[in-house]
Amino acid sequence: MRDILVAGNWKMNGNSAANAELVAGIIAGVPQGSGFSLLVCPPYPYLAAVVAQTEGSAVSVGSQNVSEHEKGAFTGEVAPGMLRDLGCTYAIVGHSERRAIYGETSAQVAAKFQAAQAAGITPILCVGETLEEREAGTTESVVDEQLDAVLDVAGIDALATAVIAYEPVWAIGTGMTASPEQAQDVHRHIRGRLEALNANIAAGVQILYGGSMKGENAAGLLAKPDIDGGLIGGASLKAEDFLAIAAAAAQN
Ligand code: PGA
Repeated sequence: MRDILVAGNWKMNGNSAANAELVAGIIAGVPQGSGFSLLVCPPYPYLAAVVAQTEGSAVSVGSQNVSEHEKGAFTGEVAPGMLRDLGCTYAIVGHSERRAIYGETSAQVAAKFQAAQAAGITPILCVGETLEEREAGTTESVVDEQLDAVLDVAGIDALATAVIAYEPVWAIGTGMTASPEQAQDVHRHIRGRLEALNANIAAGVQILYGGSMKGENAAGLLAKPDIDGGLIGGASLKAEDFLAIAAAAAQN
């Protein structure tokens, strides 16, 4: 059975004092049980402090983005080796906000995915369709293009040390969660596509759901066979809300 991963994407929120309080609250309330793990992804400037605060706890730390380059003249960018050096174990790549606001292409996301892995960081590859794409019936082809960009350069074996997050863009930050059935359909499609390449790897890869996941809807989503956790934005900013999702994971 796959473990559940509950990952908080803080986006561009927080400050030193608020983060310290949030992390202390999460650590104090980690539910009893096994078969799940917790991850927080703070903004870059706070990574070192959060790594220090979570040391020895059940909470891991990841970044929200990563450069596709190893080092050099890339002003403002952060290299995967630097993140590893700080103690990050995961990096989100291809979040829809990166794709839509900063113009990241699927090819660039694939390069980030590979660069993260080369530095020993587990990439969390985000895929997902917009509302227009869903209404046009192209959800699967959109997700396929985003997934294939990575598979084409990294190969199926790379998915053995990666996480996928299905995040329908229309559900992110909108309060409009995909129903467990809608999410399961796409998760099943993604796993099926991987199965065609390598059944063992497909069976092991964690596929998270993201998009207005919260305490009230987490149990229903996590009960689905191909949903292995959540990538949580808004509800990861309060310890109580994040822990409600963690509790659903612990009971799953
Ligand atoms: P949300 O964000 O939970 O606020 O919808 C999820 C995400 O963007 O990862």
